[in-house]
Amino acid sequence: MRTLRTIAEMQLAAESERGAGRRLAVVPTMGALHRGHVSLIERARTAADVVVTTIFVNPAQFGPNEDLTRYPRPFDSDVAVAGAAGSDIVFAPSPEEIYPEGFQTFVVNERAASGFEGAERPGHFRGVATIVAKLFLATKPHLAVFGQKDAQQVAVVKALIRDLNMDIELDVAPIVREPDGLALSSRNAYLSADERARSVVLYKALTDAQRRAAAGERSATAIRRAMYGILKEGRPDRIDYAAVVDPGSFVELEDVPLTGALAILAVRFGSTRLLDNMYLEQRKSEA
Ligand code: PAJ
Repeated sequence: MRTLRTIAEMQLAAESERGAGRRLAVVPTMGALHRGHVSLIERARTAADVVVTTIFVNPAQFGPNEDLTRYPRPFDSDVAVAGAAGSDIVFAPSPEEIYPEGFQTFVVNERAASGFEGAERPGHFRGVATIVAKLFLATKPHLAVFGQKDAQQVAVVKALIRDLNMDIELDVAPIVREPDGLALSSRNAYLSADERARSVVLYKALTDAQRRAAAGERSATAIRRAMYGILKEGRPDRIDYAAVVDPGSFVELEDVPLTGALAILAVRFGSTRLLDNMYLEQRKSEA
């Protein structure tokens, strides 16, 4: 396992692996690695010859009042976790390496990024699309593995790859959850014991939405209302949104299609924002 710090070193390593005919996969992360990240690295391991995990807490995707400075950075244990999960290379550049003096070029998605997380966190997806493009150019992967946990990020990255003609395959890994259903997140560590107990309402709201859709509920409004009702049982400090969307465009739906609708939600407990989503399927008609 090698740790690389500069873009030049990373590009050289990627070129030499590609030149030797090896298939490269990249798993972009901000570190504080948990079992969700590990599942992505393991998937990359089965699909590629060389696995690069990137660890970079990207200032450009944090708002001025967000958790950039308190975001956990357990670097040495992250490197150990990434290695144990099957990474060959950890690419961990400094902020100055990524955004040197004079940096002025950003990548902006103008559609999938506009609602929900994009509306709640202005500039967030501009930061995400820019760093993901830069990490792709540094690591030169054949394959990139992202988690369904950040469903809108997946939509933005899909559009990035397609719109800028990047020759990169995208693999989306399922959400890894705690036994009670809470999606693993580096931010779960911020929750108090009481908030952690109440946070089960996210999973409860999503599984209820899934059950309603499967039972034939076609009205996205009815499903959304039910989700709000369940979320409120957890007495969150704020429900940023709960909605049913098209997973590609992130446009809100009125009618739940037979397959492929996505229930999404974002909720705050104290200053901690929790995010989750689940696909909805209508039961096939028995005609
Ligand atoms: P981060 O939040 O560290 O997440 C890195 C990857 O892990 C993302 O693709 C995310 O969806 C995935 N992930 C997180 N929790 C997961 C879970 N419980 N199950 C499955 N996958 C999970 O997402 C980012 O970093 C950044 O925005 C990044 C893409 C690295 C750009 O800075």
